[in-house]
Amino acid sequence: LTKSYCETFRPQFHYSPAANWLNDPNGMVWYEGEYHLFYQYHPHSSVWGPMHWGHAVSKDLVFWEELPIALKPDHNGAIFSGSAVVDRHDTTDFFGGGSGLVAIFTHHDTNPVSGGPRQRQSLAYSTDKGRTWMMYEGNPVLEDERHIDYRDPKVFWDNERQQWVMVLAAGQRVLFYHSPDLIHWSFGSEFGTSEGSHDGVWECPDLFKLPVMGRGGESKWVLIVSIGPNDALAEGSRTQYFVGEFDGVNFISDNPPDTVLWLDHGRDNYAGVSWSDVPAEDGRRLFIGWMNNWKYANLLPTEGWRGAMTLPRELELVVCEDGIRLRQQPVSELETLRTLKFQLEDLAIQAGDGNLLQSIQGNTLEIEAEIKLADSSSFGFRIHGSQGQGTVIGYDAGRSYLFIDRRNAGITDFHPEFSCEHGADLKPSGGIVKLHIFADRSSVEVFANDGLAVLTDQVFPDPAHQELELFVQEGSIEIIALRIYGLKSIW
Ligand code: FRU
Repeated sequence: LTKSYCETFRPQFHYSPAANWLNDPNGMVWYEGEYHLFYQYHPHSSVWGPMHWGHAVSKDLVFWEELPIALKPDHNGAIFSGSAVVDRHDTTDFFGGGSGLVAIFTHHDTNPVSGGPRQRQSLAYSTDKGRTWMMYEGNPVLEDERHIDYRDPKVFWDNERQQWVMVLAAGQRVLFYHSPDLIHWSFGSEFGTSEGSHDGVWECPDLFKLPVMGRGGESKWVLIVSIGPNDALAEGSRTQYFVGEFDGVNFISDNPPDTVLWLDHGRDNYAGVSWSDVPAEDGRRLFIGWMNNWKYANLLPTEGWRGAMTLPRELELVVCEDGIRLRQQPVSELETLRTLKFQLEDLAIQAGDGNLLQSIQGNTLEIEAEIKLADSSSFGFRIHGSQGQGTVIGYDAGRSYLFIDRRNAGITDFHPEFSCEHGADLKPSGGIVKLHIFADRSSVEVFANDGLAVLTDQVFPDPAHQELELFVQEGSIEIIALRIYGLKSIW
């Protein structure tokens, strides 16, 4: 390994590039034993600029190898977000009857001389497991000058109808297209004129079918849409989803138009989409997001590189009181990084008791907690610090509210809205709240009640503060089970 990955805020078990700027994950596809992760990348600077596709591969979603840049800007423009698929039956005719990888992405052309600014969809293909890429000479394959924002194609093979389907973001809507060969596209329909959140421009859509857990053979379609930041709102950029039906042409949401479902209630999970072509024997819908927020993405206090991905997660549909909802859980492959540091069962503690976790030190930790609460109890973990320093992950039974407070989490002054507390409504289940927490050197991810509520946040703590605290703020709690692991570095 040539890079050390040991800078102060360098994530130890999340993907980040050795150097320079990263944003959206792109083109995630499984092919011949490898998970590919491409991403929006600026190889000449640690702020956003002319976009390339960076590239990494992994055999297990845990350990990543960074490869040379896959796609570079050309006469059609910079390479914005998009997807990749396995063209198994050579529908494109790129592979001489064999199979290979095809990337479908947005060419972002800013050159007024050649007709810019405009966004058009293009193809590139690889015959060597994604190591080298050829631009398709017929690019672009899809354009429509009526749309200024017209980008981020996500494509999948629709087996039921034997066609490729593309979902594309256009202004504050998504458009569906279909094609026999990835080259010729027909418009199907649009969705989103009145549905969901319109706080910002719609970006990076994804569409896939998932079984509904516990409902026999029933399946639903999930449409994910990221929405860009709105200066008037503290949240910045965030991601919503819809659950409904898709017939190859039209998507119809199951919920009333004013329903807004957030994929993550933290501030730093944006532009995430799912992996294509995961083998049927595996069957998981795997997701990764950009662990950042456009509000302050260019200002993060890191040196030499800027931007990281969330942990890879599995998405599932479950039936809740309010309807069918997504839940997210970290992939189980991550368990290989664990070393058990602490474990305990059946212990009651109350406000004012000393810190049970005094002996634990670390800035890369995983916590699994099952806590029984009285009606008005509240408790929290303080990570990366003690005595007022650090990030608090707390639960308040009185308000049925799960939150992250990063106001005292180290460096917060690079943007006025970074310092904040925020959270999600969450009811205990059978009086119990389950928290599954991952703390890396510059992030915390909280999966609550088996991933029904998720909070993903960046934090930039003082590296000298590696204490961990469990405190009861009000009332008392009963620890049903608590396990704490140290996590080893993937680098
Ligand atoms: C989302 C996004 C995409 C675009 C890309 C450019 O974060 O704005 O819509 O393709 O980033 O880097």
